[in-house]
Amino acid sequence: MGNKFVMVGGGSTQSPGILEVLRRRAQELAIDELVLYDIDEKRVSLLGQYTKMYYAEMGSLVNVTYTTDIDEAFTGADFLFMQIRPGLNAQRAVDEKICLSHGVVGQETCGLGGFSFAMRVIPAVRQIIRKVKELCPDAWILNYTNPEAILSEAIYSEFPDAKCLCICDMPISIEGAIAKYFDKDLRDLTFKYFGLNHFGWWTQIIDKDGKDLLPLLREDVLSGKIDTLLMSNDETVGDQYWIDTYKQMIKLFKNFPEYFPNCYLQYYLTPDEMVAHDDINFTRGDYVTNGREKRIYEECERVIANGSAKDSSLHAGVHGNYIVDICHAIIHDTRERFTVNITNNGSISNFDPKAVVELPAYVGASGAEPIVVGEIPTFQKGLMEMQKAYEKLTVEAALTGSYQTALKAVMLNKTIPNFSVGKAVLDDLYEANKEWWPKLKDDFIPEQ
Ligand code: G6P
Ligand code: MN
Repeated sequence: MGNKFVMVGGGSTQSPGILEVLRRRAQELAIDELVLYDIDEKRVSLLGQYTKMYYAEMGSLVNVTYTTDIDEAFTGADFLFMQIRPGLNAQRAVDEKICLSHGVVGQETCGLGGFSFAMRVIPAVRQIIRKVKELCPDAWILNYTNPEAILSEAIYSEFPDAKCLCICDMPISIEGAIAKYFDKDLRDLTFKYFGLNHFGWWTQIIDKDGKDLLPLLREDVLSGKIDTLLMSNDETVGDQYWIDTYKQMIKLFKNFPEYFPNCYLQYYLTPDEMVAHDDINFTRGDYVTNGREKRIYEECERVIANGSAKDSSLHAGVHGNYIVDICHAIIHDTRERFTVNITNNGSISNFDPKAVVELPAYVGASGAEPIVVGEIPTFQKGLMEMQKAYEKLTVEAALTGSYQTALKAVMLNKTIPNFSVGKAVLDDLYEANKEWWPKLKDDFIPEQ
């Protein structure tokens, strides 16, 4: 008997790349059933019909179906790939604009854009994992849903036994760019990295001879020889947001040359520059809604109307390959090294052992085993501790509905300058997200 794979949020614009890798590697993964599951009937039907046609015409033997019925989707599942977005990219843009109107970062994973997204996503993911426990308790969940930092904290603490691995393609994308810079095969480099999701640093880049290449990269950046890295990820090449982001990452490295930063640190270390750079009338959420979303669903419509996908194709990039590589490592117990979000449990010796951190780990049939990092320096530790406290309080606010806890979380986010801004953004975000956020109890004003 082969494996049943389920794409949770199968109607997402992030699905096509994964679907392409699953098709190509269906045999190695022993897939005989693939279900696209989503609550969005229109989107899942568009991508579902497309995928059925495309797989069949490419000679795939996988039985592809799509549904909005969670019981039908999850029953008998072996692997669930999860990437959901309650409120879609439209709500992402609403959050971005609210934050920007108060002069603070609105990005969907960092700043209060991330807070708002977490408040939408945590209740939805809890329901999904409860269904997994009920219908397919032995299934593995590989989660790409954002904001991954906060969500992994929520999932691992509430469902410590769940077979769930929370991952992000940013570390491997940046590692690919570094490998490209040194003209090396990514597989020939060993990266030492620690942090939180979208909040980490590389401490060493070891080549096959055991030599650390980080000092060379540092030298080339400090001497002004380079001011960016060429991207390794086809999905981002030519996208102005990523071009600017990679430049900013090098600028951060230049200013803090000890370790190489994850690009998302730009929102915490240079929030003023990020806000100045953003256009409140056309944010990243607007860009994705008008670009990737339109393109993908229109292509599905065209193929469905034609009755054939023969003149269409899906493109796989780092995002699709990474999740499938990890799944392959679990199925075949390869114990390869991947950067994942995992409970610290002593890996970073001077950081909360119960906190979820982002670290390289060896992945095999029993899941991920993190590498030992040891002690981290005061600067990174201080940043991470405040961020982790913010994440934990965000989870608590989502689970308890406490306004006071939400407010404390907001104040701990480094992008928030003071109480009046923090409270104003929180209140506006709540107002705009009533449909998705848990109801907040106003325990802010003590009872008379
Ligand atoms: C990277 C990050 C993801 C994020 C994505 C945003 O891949 O690791 O966490 O979702 O970028 O891409 P988008 O095109 O939606 O802005
Ligand atoms: Mn990510």
